[in-house]
Amino acid sequence: MKINTAEFVISNSDVSKCPKDFLPEYAFIGRSNVGKSSLINMLTNRQKLAKTSGRPGKTQLINHFLINNNWFLVDLPGYGYAKVSKKTKSVFQQFITDYFEKRQQLACAFVLIDIRHEAQAIDIEFMSYMGESEIPFCIIFTKADKISKVKIDSHVAAYKKQMFANHWAEMPPYFVTSSTEGTGKEEVLNYIDEVNQE
Ligand code: GTP
Ligand code: MG
Repeated sequence: MKINTAEFVISNSDVSKCPKDFLPEYAFIGRSNVGKSSLINMLTNRQKLAKTSGRPGKTQLINHFLINNNWFLVDLPGYGYAKVSKKTKSVFQQFITDYFEKRQQLACAFVLIDIRHEAQAIDIEFMSYMGESEIPFCIIFTKADKISKVKIDSHVAAYKKQMFANHWAEMPPYFVTSSTEGTGKEEVLNYIDEVNQE
């Protein structure tokens, strides 16, 4: 799929203020610093569309980007970094879970995992939440340029094993990407294209 236009539309922390259009959207979620915003820039060929940083916690709001005047990419804040609210005891910010539970336009979420690390409890917990809430998602393993091809394969295999150990009957669709090298771009965009056609 070719991306002709990519425009920032709105940022906010209130799902009711997200765009009212009934266009399909694809949201990027995962631990802070995993590379969500960088991946949006890589997919759209735009260096500075989404703001990135070497420091975790850069993206703080729900950000909608309109693609080809036809669908949205949504950049979200990371989890696992912001201080846990003692009141709610939730590790996931309320407006993020609100987004996933209320946003009917969400066609698919991409849960990003840093390919270098073993499965972390918080990622498994987030995927269980998505599964229980029946929200369709794929996994994207990021930063593939940081390790060898052999290690990529063994890390993906270890991840699958851990998901099965956590009662997942099957692995969701998954992709391996590098935002610095453009790895996985066609695969992710083709997947979005397929879902858009459904
Ligand atoms: P938050 O908004 O804080 O949750 O982070 P994020 O998940 O949006 O991460 P972001 O895209 O800001 O990237 C974090 C850091 O990782 C930046 O220094 C990026 O340059 C770097 N990074 C992201 N993707 C890749 C990648 O594929 N390869 C390499 N080598 N670095 C990457
Ligand atoms: Mg970000």
